[in-house]
Amino acid sequence: MTDTAVDIQRLTYADLVQVIAIERRAFAAPWSLAMFVLELSKSGGHCLVARRDERVAGYVICSPFDEVWHLMNIAVDPDLRRTGMASALIEALIHELGPGSRLTLEVRPSNDGAIALYERYGFLAAGRRKRYYQDNGEDALIMWRTPATLDGRLDDVPNPWPQPES
Ligand SMILES: CC(C)(COP(=O)(O)OP(=O)(O)OC[C@H]1O[C@@H](n2cnc3c(N)ncnc32)[C@H](O)[C@@H]1OP(=O)(O)O)[C@@H](O)C(=O)NCCC(=O)NCCS
Repeated sequence: MTDTAVDIQRLTYADLVQVIAIERRAFAAPWSLAMFVLELSKSGGHCLVARRDERVAGYVICSPFDEVWHLMNIAVDPDLRRTGMASALIEALIHELGPGSRLTLEVRPSNDGAIALYERYGFLAAGRRKRYYQDNGEDALIMWRTPATLDGRLDDVPNPWPQPES
């Protein structure tokens, strides 16, 4: 459930020391500081931070490519997981992107928690990228959130995998 005490704001360069500390605990192949700086320097992106008690609790990075939004990174402090931080970040992001927005992301098929989170917000798995993750050669699951996926369909998603007959 979303925790109303969470404070969502725009991510700034001043947050990056705390962001990097979370990133390194969250991922086997963490982003570098330079990758965050690059994303923050882009004018069209949406980079949000969740704070609790004025500390960084989590963040989400989203960038536009060809009229599609890519959710590039999301992570929450391991000590604050399952308290609604990621939900609050995704809800704020979806609100900023507006109705009709098309959002995609890659996720490890083994990341059941993240997949459950994304499905809760209307993302559907629509394909795979072979050997996408360089650290272990794992495929990526490609997920989309579009007007169609919100209705349980993939017909406005580019190159979706075959859907079972309904
Ligand atoms: C994935 C991640 C961002 C979720 O953050 P979070 O703040 O714990 O998520 P929330 O508390 O908002 O969870 C909302 C819902 O998502 C699902 N969910 C989240 N984490 C889950 C987990 N580990 N197992 C199962 N379901 C999970 C649940 O449905 C949950 O609702 P519930 O707690 O009422 O059951 C966090 O676990 C994380 O930082 N993981 C490491 C980084 C990562 O994998 N990022 C995604 C890369 S694609």
